[in-house]
Order: sequence, then structure tokens, then C-alpha cells
Amino acid sequence: MKIAVLKERHPYETRVAASPDSVKKYKALGLDVVVETGAGAGASFTDEAFQAQGAEIASSPENTTANADIVLKVRRPQTQAEGLDELSLLKSGQILIAMLDPLGSPDLMQSLAQQGVIGLAMELMPRITRAQSMDVLSSQSNLSGYRAVIEAASVYGRAFPMMMTAAGTIAPARCTIMGAGVAGLQAIATARRLGAIVSAFDVRAAAKEQVQSLGATFIEVEGGDGETKAGYAKEMDEDYKRRQQEKVHETLKKQNIVITTALIPGRAAPKLIFEKTVEEMQPGSVIVDLAAEQGGNCALTEAGKIVDVNGVKIVGYVNLAGSVPTDASNLFAKNLLTFLQSVLEKGENGPELKIDWEDEIMKGICITRDGAVVHPALQGGN
Ligand code: NAI
Repeated sequence: MKIAVLKERHPYETRVAASPDSVKKYKALGLDVVVETGAGAGASFTDEAFQAQGAEIASSPENTTANADIVLKVRRPQTQAEGLDELSLLKSGQILIAMLDPLGSPDLMQSLAQQGVIGLAMELMPRITRAQSMDVLSSQSNLSGYRAVIEAASVYGRAFPMMMTAAGTIAPARCTIMGAGVAGLQAIATARRLGAIVSAFDVRAAAKEQVQSLGATFIEVEGGDGETKAGYAKEMDEDYKRRQQEKVHETLKKQNIVITTALIPGRAAPKLIFEKTVEEMQPGSVIVDLAAEQGGNCALTEAGKIVDVNGVKIVGYVNLAGSVPTDASNLFAKNLLTFLQSVLEKGENGPELKIDWEDEIMKGICITRDGAVVHPALQGGN
């Protein structure tokens, strides 16, 4: 059985779906691995490093996928208009494992199905205990949360920690994190390590204890728990939103750094910071909006840019995990390896796939199979 690892062609993508370490483990399982030349360059994994662990290096994308059973990628296949028609590299019966963005690219999912490719979207991994080590959203969000604070510190014209020097005392930065999920909790921990005074908001009541255990203050908005059975946030009612907006407005006027990470699965990011609040924030303050790609938590965020509003800088960088490409790729590669290990078993002539399509994990991530789009979230429009 052969695994192919394609190079990512998206202009801002630095990550790769395998690491030298994951290649070593695939080889130990009895799998062959072919890696496209240069696939690991953005993450500082050389062709030689992959070769040293037993990978074959292919000189083109076509040669990479030609005889593969399983194709690994970070992002969904690109189209011809985006540079290279990556769908044409895939064949009927092949399994494609990546963050397929099925809800954002329904037409592409139809094409995948028509081509007979089995498409597995890793970002739809169910949030259940046994899938924790396969959860790419968690592994990448954790790094994004860390990196958001580093970006904020580099844009901020002052220091984070309190410093008492002969020339005077520097006050510690006041930092608020909005959304205390995986990214937000790491942002709290990182900002605390840098010496900031940290507070955080979330709609889920369960977040309070987690925030406090990291040494930050939890900012409460009265009005019920916004957690679904699946552990995610739900859209709050208008009354809650108004009260939250007032609280956010009063809080942010006194903050230097704001990191927003609030997301609601399958919807645009909730708007938490409006123009009026930004206008009343202190000049020199920094907002890093991790939800920029999903429309932003701040009304003035522009994805991919830093916007300056009366001296308040709003950072809308996307793919912040990609700014830590070596760690992000190592963790992503490990998530994919763990998933594949769970569906492989020893056969007479080497490892064989044994997939239970009715299993909760497979039902959660399988988008296309047997020539059709099979995921319930995409059935409506097709
Ligand atoms: P996410 O990325 O969907 O959202 C980030 C955060 O924003 C969440 O904490 C959410 O409650 C918050 N949020 C949404 N709307 C908000 C609003 N209007 N105001 C303030 N905050 C708002 O969530 P993430 O980080 O993926 O985690 C969600 C939950 O899933 C957490 O409880 C986490 O511990 C859990 N989880 C479980 C896993 C497992 O068991 N396999 C793996 C990863 C996370």
C-alpha cells in the first residue's frame, strides 16, 4: 500500500501533511511513502530528511500520486484557476485525506465524488475522547493561539511584562482574550508567560474554570450557558448579545491587547467588537482577530491585513498556525498518522485498510464515497 504526500500550492501555505517522523512510522507499519520534491521546504523538512526515513521522492505532482492508494494534503485540492488542477492528479478509488473545506467548496466535493475519490475531511473529526489525537482543529488552533500573542507583541509599541528599571517602571500590558476554546486557552497561557495581566470572555460556562486555572480573570456576561451538547458554542439571543456588547465595550476601553478567537461551527464568526468600541480604545492598542478568515470577530478586521484605526492596530492574519510551520506540520502529520493507524490492520501481504463506514469517526469525516457526496451536511443542496 502506498501513501503519497503532495506539496501544498496555496500561496500562503507553509505546512505539509507528513513529517520525517510520520514517514518513519508509516514505513514501520509496512507502508510505502512517496513525497513530492520540496513538499516539506516551508516546514524546514528537506527531501533528504524524508528520504532518510525511507520515503521515495517524486519529481512532479503527477509522479507523486500516480500509484498511490492514499493521498495526504493539508488543504483541499486546488483548481486550474488557482494554479494547478489538483483534482486531475487523483484517480478513482484513491483516498484523499486533508482539510477539505467541504462546506466552503461544495462544487469541488461533487467533482471529487464524480471522480470516484474517497474524500475524508479531517477538520470534521468528531470531538470525542478517542478522536482527540486525530483532531487537526485542536492541534492547529493551539499553535494559532500561541502565535496570535506573539504577533500582538511584535506589533505592540510597548512591553508586555512589568519592568522596574532605574529609568522608571513599565506597566504590564492588559490583555483580553475573547473565546476561551483551544486557541483562546493557549493565548491566555502565552500572554501570562509574557507577563501580561489577562482576562477572558466566553459564552460557555465551562470555560470559566479553565480560564481561572490559567491565572486569568473570567469576565462574566449574565444570561445562561451557550454550550451545545457537542461542547461547542451556540448562537446567543439578541438580549445576550446586547449585554455582551456593553460589557465588551466597557472592558476593551481599558485593554492594550485583545485576541479574539470566537467561532460557531458552520456559521460566520460572531461579531463581538464594533466600530464604536475600537474608536474608544487607547491608541497603541492591538487587536489580533483569529476569526478573520470566517468574517472576523471585529467589524473592522480585513483578512490578511493590519488595519490602523486611530492608532489601534487590527491584525487580520490568516493561517497563523502556518507561521509555526515545523510544529504545525509535525502535529498535523501525527494527527493523520494516528487516524490511519486506527483503520489499518495487518494483512497477509502487508497492511490493509479495514474501514467501518458506520463508525462515528468515519461518518463524521467522510465526504465522498462510491461516486457520491455522502456527508449529511452537504446532502441538502445536492
Ligand atoms: P471554536 O474554535 O469553535 O470556538 C472558540 C471559542 O469561542 C469557544 O470556546 C466558544 O465557546 C467561543 N465563542 C463562540 N461564540 C462566542 C461569543 N459570542 N462570545 C464569546 N465566546 C464565544 O471552539 P474550540 O476551541 O474548537 O473548542 C470548543 C470545545 O470543544 C471546547 O470545550 C474544547 O475543550 C472542546 N474540544 C474537545 C475535543 C475532544 O474531546 N476531542 C477536542 C477539541 C476541543
